[in-house]
Amino acid sequence: MTKSATISIGDKTVEMPIKSGTIGPDVVDIAKLYAQTGAFTYDPGFLSTASCESSITYIDGDAGVLLYRGYPIDQLAEHGDFLETCHLLLHGELPTATQKSDFDYRVTRHTMVHEQMARFFQGFRRDAHPMAVMVGCVGAMAAFYHDSTDISDPHQRMVASMRMIAKMPTLAAMTYKYNVGQPFVYPKNDLDYTSNFLRMCYAVPCEDYKVNPIISRALDRIFILHADHEQNASTSTVRLAGSSGANPFACIAAGIACLWGPAHGGANEAALAMLAEIGTVDNIPAFISKVKDKSDHTRLMGFGHRVYKNYDPRAKLMQKTCHEVLAEMGVKDDPLLDVALELERIALSDEYFIERKLYPNVDFYSGITLKAMGFPVSMFTVLFAVARTVGWISQWKEMIEDPSSKIGRPRQLYTGSPRRDYTPISKR
Ligand code: CMC
Repeated sequence: MTKSATISIGDKTVEMPIKSGTIGPDVVDIAKLYAQTGAFTYDPGFLSTASCESSITYIDGDAGVLLYRGYPIDQLAEHGDFLETCHLLLHGELPTATQKSDFDYRVTRHTMVHEQMARFFQGFRRDAHPMAVMVGCVGAMAAFYHDSTDISDPHQRMVASMRMIAKMPTLAAMTYKYNVGQPFVYPKNDLDYTSNFLRMCYAVPCEDYKVNPIISRALDRIFILHADHEQNASTSTVRLAGSSGANPFACIAAGIACLWGPAHGGANEAALAMLAEIGTVDNIPAFISKVKDKSDHTRLMGFGHRVYKNYDPRAKLMQKTCHEVLAEMGVKDDPLLDVALELERIALSDEYFIERKLYPNVDFYSGITLKAMGFPVSMFTVLFAVARTVGWISQWKEMIEDPSSKIGRPRQLYTGSPRRDYTPISKR
């Protein structure tokens, strides 16, 4: 039986179809509401609005579940590697052994960036925030790779997708090197994706560099955890930018700009800054009071989520990875970790957080982990962008390949002045 919702507005009553997905809440399809009643729906922040159909990622926020193409995040993070996750997100299935080696080979062969891009970097100040450099450089890729900007050609779409996944770590590492004033390090194709990235960040021409396999595996797992998260703010930005037919490089640059904000990907940087500001366990009660004081506007960064009203499943894996990395790097007593653990303990037993279902999110432990790996705080969100690129590009591709997709064009509730006549300046 087809389900529908009855909506009455004034003297008009209309039936709107209800659509069901494979799992998750049903949606009321209100696409014809305006045509049939003259009314819009109003949902700033999209609290109750599904903006698209997607078969990529599923989140059950109440149960704390995250699935990529149906596979639980913990299984992928435990048993797979990041490029396997990339294949899964992009193509819909885990690769066979032959598909995996072909995919790895193709990504690896795209890791170098156009040599002229190195000169493009010189235009930035050395002390520019790495996210500002990333927005500029990724947007500039459209100026370098003209043969993969025709979005109506499936082959070009796939080439752009592979380029994006492959070149993002190279650009991120170049951004880091430029920032610290060291020479760029070219990719080395006999290394796996994440080891290659670590080498491009930390190797210098005057010394041999050996990748630590434990750190590489930990970072690879962090990439898996961040690879996609359905219709979050940056992904929705990528989709909206792409809905006009803009090229994929421009769309991903838009996604990076959105990710930068502290309510989104910038939270890992903000969380570490907060832990440093708190400094010691003794200062936690005063900080918690500030967070609870509505006139203060301080938030516990790395806590809370629009969708998760339970422990973020990524945060659990992140906490485990954090302990592994600290042990490997010989960080015995990190005061920031002590503060984080105690903050989490207090927050999870405090009525304010319990009532609002505020739990640690993925960003709570990622900062401490990335810091222990040697990354400066300003690079944290860049690492998030490296990982999320596959999610953005998979969602963009899904949208372009959906025959029913349209330009995104929300409407508004206008609250400005009604029509009025122009007054000459002498009469104002
Ligand atoms: N600390 C203190 N109070 C909070 C927090 C927090 N981190 N998050 C939400 N609240 C309170 C908020 O004040 C509100 O209280 P009240 O009902 O009394 O007004 C209530 O909880 C609901 O908050 P909201 O702002 O309506 O929730 P939202 O779904 O719009 O916001 C969020 C979600 C992630 C933006 C928010 O929880 C937040 O700002 N968290 C800190 C930033 C952060 O860690 N972001 C990373 C998110 S996960 C990774 C990613 O997406 O990139």
